[in-house]
Amino acid sequence: MHFTHAILRRPGEHFAEGLTRADEGPPDLDLALSQHARYAEALVTCGLQVEVLAADAEYPDSCFVEDPAIVTEAGALLTRPGAPSRLGEVATLRPVLQRYFGSVSSIAAPGLLDGGDVCDLGGRFLIGLSERTNTEGAGQLSRWLEERGYRSETVDLADHPRLLHLKTGITAIDEGRVVVVPGFPVARLLDGMERIEVEAGEEYAANCIRVNDRVLVAAGYPRLLERLEGLGYRTLPLSMSEFRRMDGGLSCLSLRLNLRRG
Ligand code: GLY
Repeated sequence: MHFTHAILRRPGEHFAEGLTRADEGPPDLDLALSQHARYAEALVTCGLQVEVLAADAEYPDSCFVEDPAIVTEAGALLTRPGAPSRLGEVATLRPVLQRYFGSVSSIAAPGLLDGGDVCDLGGRFLIGLSERTNTEGAGQLSRWLEERGYRSETVDLADHPRLLHLKTGITAIDEGRVVVVPGFPVARLLDGMERIEVEAGEEYAANCIRVNDRVLVAAGYPRLLERLEGLGYRTLPLSMSEFRRMDGGLSCLSLRLNLRRG
């Protein structure tokens, strides 16, 4: 889980028009921008070189930059987001990823895939089948990963309607340890891994991110924070209220890269 760089995109003027199932009222754009700036600073604190892309007013969800791409130490792949309003985000990200990786691969129609449905367990990948990711998209990603020496496994989220994305419910914070929501599905790749289950009422906090020697966690979820600190992690709580209103979590706000490979 070592990262050297991160790519972010600032929320734009139409942020409040993005997709959301949360019933928490519209976001305050100024507050979202200050939370976003604090998030970028936190990644710098973790030692990353951070590029913040200009807002793209045409795509209100484009600050959730994790969804249109998958980045690994072996290369990058542009997805084909499952929400029609987000499909165009891919074209704007392509030249950015080409700067970092040279060539980039793509998911092709009829495949659909959101980066939020892909969880890297440390070179082994869980791929969620969700409202945004279909079997064809998951299959294309699985083959792409296999060609690069990675294993993967699909996890059907059909019985978990509260999980918008796979990573709404799981975070890998170490090669042998995940944070999960209660009832997160069984998967072979999780066999032998320790599950830290968030308590009822703290489900949103399951989307935390391990970045080098820190774990970034959403502020306001004290029981998970205490648990992680008790296990010896250095935590960095961040206010996420305005992104939560728009169904976004900590992982969604960045693509985290390791460009010091090997
Ligand atoms: N608002 C994030 C998403 O639904 O894709």
